[in-house]
Amino acid sequence: MKKHILTILTGALVLLASVSATVVAAEAVESLRGGLSIEEQNQSFELKRQMTAAGGFDRGWKQQPPLVPHKVDNDRISVRENTCLRCHSEKNFEKEKAPRIGDSHYLDRDGNKLDTLSSRRWFCTQCHVPQVDAAPLVENTFGR
Ligand code: HEC
Ligand code: HEC
Repeated sequence: MKKHILTILTGALVLLASVSATVVAAEAVESLRGGLSIEEQNQSFELKRQMTAAGGFDRGWKQQPPLVPHKVDNDRISVRENTCLRCHSEKNFEKEKAPRIGDSHYLDRDGNKLDTLSSRRWFCTQCHVPQVDAAPLVENTFGR
């Protein structure tokens, strides 16, 4: 009997502790939406212009995928099409005076050379991102 009471007491204590932890966590977390409830509409954000940089942006570190130094608003990448290739592909880069896609983009995961772009590199903007002149949303000390 004593043992039973002890088990129930311990159980109740654990429950109490987890409930109070949840309450504390719910108060501490604030998302980028701020204090707005789900129903409330946040102010629409200001659309920033994408930056251009003649000759490209400097790289922050050696293996960094170079940043995109031009607008990509009208580019589309889907399963069927990739408009980046209109200028950057092996076939078009000279005519378009655009830098050719790096050799590394033609390797499969085992390092074998492929004739066509590796599917691992299809979604260019997964690695190559355009820039806007905006203050960071949260403080960031990366690279400093
Ligand atoms: C209309 C042609 C065109 C299209 C379409 C295009 N680019 Fe470019 N891109 C260029 C040219 C030209 C440059 C060189 C700009 C310069 O250096 O001044 C360039 C530069 C770049 C660079 C910088 C390379 C480096 O070494 O600094 C990246 C990365 C890039 N583009 C990615 C993309 C991606 C991703 C897309 C599709 C979302 C895309 N581009 C679509 C013409 C194009
Ligand atoms: C998985 C990440 C990744 C994806 C996806 C990717 N790239 Fe890259 N890209 C890189 C990295 C890293 C570099 C720099 C090192 C190198 O050349 O491999 C680079 C380099 C480049 C360069 C500069 C080459 C040079 O010689 O300076 C161009 C242009 C480029 N990529 C275009 C593209 C285009 C267009 C696509 C989509 C078809 C694409 N990349 C997809 C990571 C990626």
